[in-house]
Amino acid sequence: MPAAYQIIDHTYDAVVVGAGGSGLRATMGIAESGLKTACITKVFPTRSHTVAAQGGIAASLGNNSPDHWSWHMYDTVKGSDWLGDQDAIEYMVREAPAAVYELEHAGVPFSRNENGTIYQRPFGGHMQNMGDGPPVQRTCAAADRTGHAMLHALYQQSLKYDADFYVEYFALDLIMENGACRGVIALNMETGAIHRFRAHAVVLATGGGGRVYQSATSAHTCTGDGNGMVLRAGLPLQDMEFVQFHPTGIYGAGVLITEGARGEGGYLTNSEGERFMERYAPSAKDLASRDVVSRSMAAEMREGRGVGKDKDHIFLHLDHIDPKVLAERLPGITETGKIFAGVDLTRQPLPVTPTVHYNMGGIPTNYHGEVVHLKDGNPDAIVPGLFAVGEAACVSVHGANRLGSNSLIDLVVFGRATGLRLKETLKPNTSHNALPKGSEEMALARLDHFRNAAGASPTSKIRAEMQRTMQRHAAVFRDSALLAEGVTKIDAIYQSMQDIGIKDRSLIWNTDLVETLELDNLISQAVVTMRGAENRKESRGAHMHEDFPERDDANWMKHTTATFDGWGGKGGACTLDYRPVHDYTLTDDVEYIKPKKRVY
Ligand code: FUM
Repeated sequence: MPAAYQIIDHTYDAVVVGAGGSGLRATMGIAESGLKTACITKVFPTRSHTVAAQGGIAASLGNNSPDHWSWHMYDTVKGSDWLGDQDAIEYMVREAPAAVYELEHAGVPFSRNENGTIYQRPFGGHMQNMGDGPPVQRTCAAADRTGHAMLHALYQQSLKYDADFYVEYFALDLIMENGACRGVIALNMETGAIHRFRAHAVVLATGGGGRVYQSATSAHTCTGDGNGMVLRAGLPLQDMEFVQFHPTGIYGAGVLITEGARGEGGYLTNSEGERFMERYAPSAKDLASRDVVSRSMAAEMREGRGVGKDKDHIFLHLDHIDPKVLAERLPGITETGKIFAGVDLTRQPLPVTPTVHYNMGGIPTNYHGEVVHLKDGNPDAIVPGLFAVGEAACVSVHGANRLGSNSLIDLVVFGRATGLRLKETLKPNTSHNALPKGSEEMALARLDHFRNAAGASPTSKIRAEMQRTMQRHAAVFRDSALLAEGVTKIDAIYQSMQDIGIKDRSLIWNTDLVETLELDNLISQAVVTMRGAENRKESRGAHMHEDFPERDDANWMKHTTATFDGWGGKGGACTLDYRPVHDYTLTDDVEYIKPKKRVY
C-alpha cells in the first residue's frame, strides 16, 4: 500500500456521485427523506453536462397536440428497436408528466403557449396514435436551453435540503465487500487529500463516456468514471455496443445542434439540394428516430452526395423559418451556429454531420435504480448498496436507440425513483459495520501507479489513438472486418497503457493525473464497446452491422453484459454474457408491445 496519502473518513447514509440532472434529483430525494446524504462531483454542479441539453424533455402532457402515456410508451419501445425493458419504459412514461410539473414548480422557466401551458415541440420518433402519426408535440422546452434551466433549478432546490456537497472531488473507486457496495474513495483535487466515504448506498450518477470517441457532443468531462469503477469492481456494463450518433453535430466542431431545430421545421439536404429523408423515412422524414436519420446522412455521404469539397457533411436548413421564431425558440443554436460554423442561420444552411451523443448502454439497473447483474442463474440479482441513474445507467429504457428528449426525462424520473427506493428501504442513521481492512488499497494503488508513471507515451497520445480507433471502427456503419480489426487495435491501445507517462507528480490540481485516471476509465469502456459490437451479429437500433443487416429477434433480442479484467495486471480480458430483455409490462393497464418491423 502506497505510503503518505492523507485519508479523511466520512460516514453517510447515502452518497451520490455526480451532480448532473439525475445526481441532483437523486440527492434531493434522498436528503428530503431524512437520510444523511453527500453528493460528490468532479465539476461544480451547474457545470455538469446536463447543462448542455438543448431541445427538451419528453412527457405526454398533450398541451400542443393530443397525447397519451401509452403512445409515448409505444414510441419508446419502437425507438429502442425492442431492446428496451417494457416494465421500466412503462414506469418512465407514466411518471413523466408529474416529473415535468415538479420541475415547473421547482422553477424551470419553460417556454409557454398563449394559454400559459408548457410549450411542447415535435421530436424525432415521437408520434400520435401508437406510432401511426402524425408527429406528436411531446417535448417540453425552455427555448433550446432546457438542460441548462433544469440544472440550475435542481441545484437551487437541492441546496434547500440538508445534503453535503463535495465539489471538485474526483471519485476513484468503489469500496466493495462480499459483493456489496460499502462506500467510495475520492480525491479532493484542490488539496490532494483522499476522502473515504462509508455509506449504506452509493448512487452512481456519473454520466456517459462519450469521450471514448474523437468527435462527440459530450463535454470533455464525460469520461464515464462510474462505468470504469463498476468494471474495476468486477461488475458488468450492459449493451455498450449501442452508441448514439446525433444527426446534427456542427461539422468539424462536433457541437450539438438540437433536434428541436428539425422539430421547429428545419430539414436536411444533400449536395443536390434534395430533401433525402423523404426517401428513407417517407412518413416521419426529418423527424424519424436518430439512428435512422444518422444512417441516412452517412449513406448519402458514402454515395457521393455529401456537401463540401470532401462531400463529408450535410446541410441543415433553418433559413426558411421566421427569424422571430428562431430568436424565440432556438436562440442558443443561432448563436452556436455563428460561433462554431460562421453561419447566419436566418440566411444560410448549417454544415452538420452525425456526431457521438449518448450511450444507450451503461450500468444495468432495475427501475428503482438498483444495480443488477446475473448471479446464480438470476439475471436480476441486486448488488446490495449500489445504485446507478442517468446516462451512467442502463435501466434499460432506451434499448438499442434512444429517442431525443427521453434522456432528460430518464434523469429526473429515475433520480426520483432512487430516492423513493432508499426512503422505503433505509432508515436514517442506521448503524454501519466497520469497513473491510484495506478498503482504500485498490484506489490508492491505482492512483499511485499513474501518478508515478514514467513511460514514454503521454496520456494525450494514447487517448487520441483510442478516439480515432473508435471513430473509425465502431461508427454508424459497422461490418465484420472493420470490427475485428477494431478489436485488435483497441486491445493493443489498452496494452500501450503500460507505457504511459505523466510529468506532474504533485497532488494539487494535477490535471495530468486526473486526465490519466479518466483515460483509464475510458479505455475499459472502449474495449467493452468494441467487443460487444464485434460480437453482436445483427443490426438493431444504433448498431448497424452491414454483414447482418436485419434485426434477428430469435437470436439477439437480449442484453449484452460485459466484464473487464483490466486493473492490477490482469491483461484486459473482456467476458461477454447476456441478460434477457424484460418482455412484460409493469401493470395490466397496457399490453406488451410485440416486436414488428421498424419503419418511420
Ligand atoms: O437534440 C437535442 O436537443 C438533444 C436532446 C436529447 O439528446 O435528448
